[in-house]
Amino acid sequence: MIVILFGPPGCGKGTQAKILSNAIGCPHLSTGDMLREAVELSTKTGKLAAEVMAKGKLVSDGIVANIIQERTGQKDCNQGFILDGFPRTIPQAKKLDKIIEGRGLVINAVIEFGVRDSKLVNRIIGRFTCKNCGASYNDATLKPKLENACDICGSRDFIRRKDDNEKTAMARIKAYHCETEPLLPYYRDKKILNSIDGLAPIKTVTEQILDLVKKIR
Ligand code: AP5
Repeated sequence: MIVILFGPPGCGKGTQAKILSNAIGCPHLSTGDMLREAVELSTKTGKLAAEVMAKGKLVSDGIVANIIQERTGQKDCNQGFILDGFPRTIPQAKKLDKIIEGRGLVINAVIEFGVRDSKLVNRIIGRFTCKNCGASYNDATLKPKLENACDICGSRDFIRRKDDNEKTAMARIKAYHCETEPLLPYYRDKKILNSIDGLAPIKTVTEQILDLVKKIR
């Protein structure tokens, strides 16, 4: 099954992609995570992407399309995958169609998270992650049960993304409206676009997604 989780920064794509990946047994492919890893490792791609990401702009279509082409060609993607943060432009969507058609697969659903802009910035600047196990938390909505200790592994080492500050978050939201939102009619015309209420609590959002996935499976 191929599912695209679609929506503005901070709408909950990453949170739900992890849950859905465990629920249906398909890998979670996040172009943001892959680019951050490339930046961390200082690869050629990472060097090209670092400055663009720090400004909250979109990395070039060619770079992200290559990343996805390579990743989706790996064995664990044979039965499908969950895309989080890709595609973000019409050229990326067309490239994805070609990759998928070439492998005899189809996109089963695009799930759009509806969240007002006014809610996004607070979610983004409040986000932090356990450096040891990757568990995600939020100052406003999802604090660890014990102060400064990860619920999952007990580590006290937390990290915040460099682009999770107010100025860059605003630039990312602007990039979404200008360059990514125009993809909605593209998928609506293909009759695979579904919208959910991303303002609901995390558990309720998961239920909405699992209901949808059950219907198309
Ligand atoms: P990327 O890493 O994809 O970031 P993003 O799209 O900006 O999305 P976020 O990770 O900020 O948000 P999310 O929707 O995953 O929310 P989350 O679940 O974490 O991209 C980063 C950069 O890489 C881009 O700016 C660009 O430069 C580049 N890039 C990546 N892909 C690209 C592409 N295809 N083309 C070009 N450039 C690309 O949730 C956020 C917070 O809210 C968390 O703390 C969470 O706990 C909380 N939360 C989640 N759901 C709820 C809820 N229902 N209620 C309350 N709180 C919630």
